[in-house]
This record gives sequence, structure tokens and C-alpha cells, in this order.
Amino acid sequence: MDDAELGLPRGGPGGPGRILLVIGGGIAAYKSLELIRRLKEQGVAVRCVMTGSAAQFVTPLSVAAVSVEKVYSELFSLTDEAEMGHIRLSREADLVVVAPATANLLAKMAHGIADDLASTVLLATDKPVLVAPAMNPMMWNHAATRRNVRMLAQDGIGFIGPNAGDMACGEVGSGRMAEPAEIVSAVLARLRPAARPLHGLRALVTSGPTREAIDPVRFIMNHSSGKQGHAIAEALARAGAEVTLVSGPVALADPAGVRVVKVESAEEMLAGALAALPADFAVMAAAVADWRPEAVPDHKIKKEPGGAPPAIRLVENPDILMTVSRQNDKRPRLVIGFAAETENLVEHGSAKLQRKGCDWILANDVSAGSGTFGGDRNRVTLIRAGAEPEAWPGGSKAEVAATLVRRIAREFGRG
Ligand code: C5P
Repeated sequence: MDDAELGLPRGGPGGPGRILLVIGGGIAAYKSLELIRRLKEQGVAVRCVMTGSAAQFVTPLSVAAVSVEKVYSELFSLTDEAEMGHIRLSREADLVVVAPATANLLAKMAHGIADDLASTVLLATDKPVLVAPAMNPMMWNHAATRRNVRMLAQDGIGFIGPNAGDMACGEVGSGRMAEPAEIVSAVLARLRPAARPLHGLRALVTSGPTREAIDPVRFIMNHSSGKQGHAIAEALARAGAEVTLVSGPVALADPAGVRVVKVESAEEMLAGALAALPADFAVMAAAVADWRPEAVPDHKIKKEPGGAPPAIRLVENPDILMTVSRQNDKRPRLVIGFAAETENLVEHGSAKLQRKGCDWILANDVSAGSGTFGGDRNRVTLIRAGAEPEAWPGGSKAEVAATLVRRIAREFGRG
């Protein structure tokens, strides 16, 4: 991601500030060299503290070479203390970034343990702290880590990631460190308030599938992962918007800095969406079930031996996008819907724009082989009334979200 992509002025001497990067001991530490390089490209000065185990994954010499600064790792080093006491080290930065933040480092931070230079610096700092967790999915999902993350979030620690995907350990799940480009944009958003173009705007985002009950144990649902909607909510929050995310059941972590309202059915999602109004703009990325069973018994439908299968009568669900678009007094200034299409993207997208009464449609190709549904990548075309369609470059769902943020900022005269 370069400056033009981020929509930021190029940093330079006296540029966007100074960070203290604490490198924890995880395999993702190898990405810290690229992170440092990208931060320096943006004019950010980077001083690094490494834990003892981080030095097993990446050498202090490489970190020093890329950061062009001395690397600190010893709490009781006479040279280090003489040159730069740990208190000064922790206070001279504008922002402290922990990447990768291991489960161990998060646990120490949550409990105020200071038994090496990295954890001491983290306890001694009076600066904002941003952490990029990276660990095995089991460790990330462990009750102890969940508890520590909650405590840290309450203490005002900022989180970026982790992302879901293949892990170095061979497992799949949530625990991959956020990509260096994502960490850089999160850092810049904090260092330069001007990089928060949506500051002061309220946003509603819907994401994920809806789950429609057949009886107390069965339901109808779809394959939506919620990855695109969640990436949008996170990117909007990072750009300074005050975001309410109304989400159906998904296997994703709550995006950082976002108010999350968890719902199941389309009717609950509609109620959650309406309760989040007024908002300045809305992005409706949820895959809402078109129908729901008409009547839901309060007992499990019994399978009678030899009996005929029950007939399930369906009724139409409310259209949330249409309802929000047609609000009189509380209609957001910009309402954005999605159109998942397998063919004639623009034609079908334009028809949807008309029918739903929204302002923009982001049409995405979900044909077999596109890998969009459940995958990490997406390619969308922006359709607006009376304007040429804009085919955006394909990329990760985070990149599509970043493009959308810039486009919304432009629409609100902030870009
Ligand atoms: O009609 P279709 O489902 O193709 O439209 C997709 C768009 O409409 C998406 O933005 C989706 O979030 C929204 N939608 C909705 N409520 C529904 C159905 C779709 O908000 N019941």
C-alpha cells in the first residue's frame, strides 16, 4: 500500500512521528522487518525493543539495520540503561506498537507483569499502545487469552487483527498477525488525526448471514462468512467513523473500535439496524435470508416413524436495505448495498439500485471459481445512478474495504 493508496501526504523529516515497536517472540516476527521498512517509507521513525524469544526468530542485527536505530533487549544492561533508560525508551515515542503480540506478552500486559525489557516498557509507558496479536488459533481462542484481550481493550489498548487464515503451524483459524500494510495504516491513523477522514461521522454496517429458526433446534442459513462486512466496519472505524456493526452469526472476532450488535434472524437484524439510526451513512453487506419459516413451534418438530416429512411454509423477510433507504427522517445521507451476482454484474446491479432505493451498489462476482464467498479476496464494481460504473481493482477484502473508505471520504468531501 503506498501513499497515494492511503490518500496521505508523504511523511518526511519531522513527519508523522515516532513509534516504539515491541517485537514479541512468534513466527510472525519475520514480518516485522517489512513492517519497519514500510513505516520508515511513510516517514515514521521506528525504535525497536525485542523480547528474548523474538531474537530466536529474527536477528537484532537485521532489525537494527532496517530501523537504522539501536535495538534494545536487555533490562539490566548497563550500556542500554546508560544510553537510554527504559522509562525514557517508553516515553519518547508517540505510539507504542506490539507486533507480533504473543499470548504471553498479552497476558503480561493484562496483569502488569514486568519481568523483561519489553514488558517493563509496556508497563512504564504513558503513550497509546496498539497491539497486533499473532498466535495459534487455539491459543487465541483460549478462555485465558479472551479474558486478557477483554481486559486490555477495557484499558484502552488498541487491537489490529488477528486475521483468519492458514497458520505457520499448519492449522487454520484466527491468529495470523495483521499484514504489515494494515498495521501501517492503523499506525498512521493514530499518528496523524488527519488520516481519520471519517472522524465525526456515524456509520451503520450489516454483515454476515441471518439464521432463521425452523424450530428450537433447526434453522435455515447461508454460507456468508461476514469477512467483507467486518473488514469494512474495521476500516471505517480506523478512518475515524463511529461504527455500529449489526452482525449475524459469524466465526470472526469483533472488529477493533466498533460497537457490535449480535443478531440471528433478519427481523432482529432489521431492528438492530433501525436502532442504529440516525447515521450519516450505511453499508449493508449482510447476506440476509430472503425467507423465513412462517411459524416456529416452541418444541422440536418430531420425526414420526413412517410419517411424511413436514412441509415448511416460508414467508418473505423484511428487506433491510430497502427499509433503511426509505426512512423519511432518519435516512442516512449515503446508503450502500451489495449485489452478489454471477452474471451481468452492471445490469443486475443497476436494477437493484433502482428497486432498493439506495445510492450505491457494490456489485461483486460470486460465480463459481471467483472465490468470493467465504474467501479472503473480492472484486467489486461500484454502481451509482447516472454515473459510469467503476470497476475497482480486486484484492483482499481488507483492500476492498480501504478503497470503499476512501470513496466514502470523497463523497463526504473529506478525501
Ligand atoms: O436482493 P438481494 O439480496 O440481492 O440484495 C442484496 C443487498 O440487499 C445487500 O446489500 C443486502 O445486505 C441487502 N438485503 C437486505 N435485506 C434483505 C435482503 C437483502 O438488507 N432482506
